[in-house]
Amino acid sequence: MSTSERAVTGAPLDTRVGAMRIGLLTGGGDCPGLNAAIRAVVKRGTSELGCSIVGFNNGWQGVIDGDAKPLTRDDVSGILVHGGTMLGTARCHPHKVEGGMEAVKETFENEKLDGFICIGGDGTLKAAGKVSKELGVPVIGIPKTIDNDVVGTDAAIGFDTAVSIATEAIDRLHSTAESHNRVMVVELMGRHSGWIAVTAGIAGGADIILAPEEPFDIDVIAKRIKHRHRYKNFSIVAVAEGALPAEGSNWTGKATIDEKGNPIAGSIGHEVTKAIEAATGFTSRLTVLGYVQRGGVPTAADRLLGTRMGVAAIDGIVAGESHKFTALQGDHIVLEPFDTMMGKTKWVPEELLMAARGL
Ligand code: F6P
Repeated sequence: MSTSERAVTGAPLDTRVGAMRIGLLTGGGDCPGLNAAIRAVVKRGTSELGCSIVGFNNGWQGVIDGDAKPLTRDDVSGILVHGGTMLGTARCHPHKVEGGMEAVKETFENEKLDGFICIGGDGTLKAAGKVSKELGVPVIGIPKTIDNDVVGTDAAIGFDTAVSIATEAIDRLHSTAESHNRVMVVELMGRHSGWIAVTAGIAGGADIILAPEEPFDIDVIAKRIKHRHRYKNFSIVAVAEGALPAEGSNWTGKATIDEKGNPIAGSIGHEVTKAIEAATGFTSRLTVLGYVQRGGVPTAADRLLGTRMGVAAIDGIVAGESHKFTALQGDHIVLEPFDTMMGKTKWVPEELLMAARGL
């Protein structure tokens, strides 16, 4: 009987000779809901499927270093409601580290693993795709990112919680903005795509929403704010980290870019706030929500998504699947080839941008 047949028949634990050993890691930025996925992999893997789950600390770095620990039901008990990741995380891509791929292969052999389950955002999943393709090692990915920019899945773990936090922040800014007759700019995460700014902006009733998908003209924004202030005494502006001015517009304010080519948090928010105050004459203040969006208790939706994806990932790898990631498509969790997402960004669709524009 093959391992996958054993998994499907659900034979009793003590007859599962040669059950699979699966390595589990979380990579990239943390987010709420990761622990739900870890818990699901470990609980279903060890109890229902007779697997051993080997956890790696700090993402692919832990795999490179051989920093492993066995994970049991007891280890994951009670973690469902905790934000962050019990395994720790790092932004490490083995193919970008000298000797990294060889070290991953060595750990895979030393630990006598049958495959990896890798929970991560686009960078970590791209690395997972390379590991499975170039090393011939079975890998199933689980998408997580508050940025929600992974192509092929309707949602990634962490996004729902981040949107809830950002929406609450916008709600709270309303009363202080109104009390002081101010323009309140709130900068939200999203370097490449503006999912949080657009969705939380709509849900929180922001008056202006700026996302990378739709470069803006600050003169037009200032005009809209002035117009609004004829009948209202305040405005809320939601800006994504990666928002940028339209080519050809007069204003040249831009985010400051770091050594990796990413916009530095707070920089575009600062520029936009200054520019709005100068162009409108209204007192303007900036709130940079930053890492608060990634912290704390996951929403029910993220716990559910993490759990469903964790179950699908362990079932998939035990059934012999590889080079795929779990994806929410409509009502279903499916396994989607890594090639669907590698090198791509899921942009905010026009329909949402239009809703953000016209309110
Ligand atoms: O990818 C998630 C994210 O929170 C982005 O929204 C943000 O731009 C980035 O990570 C921040 O990265 P770091 O944790 O490396 O500062």
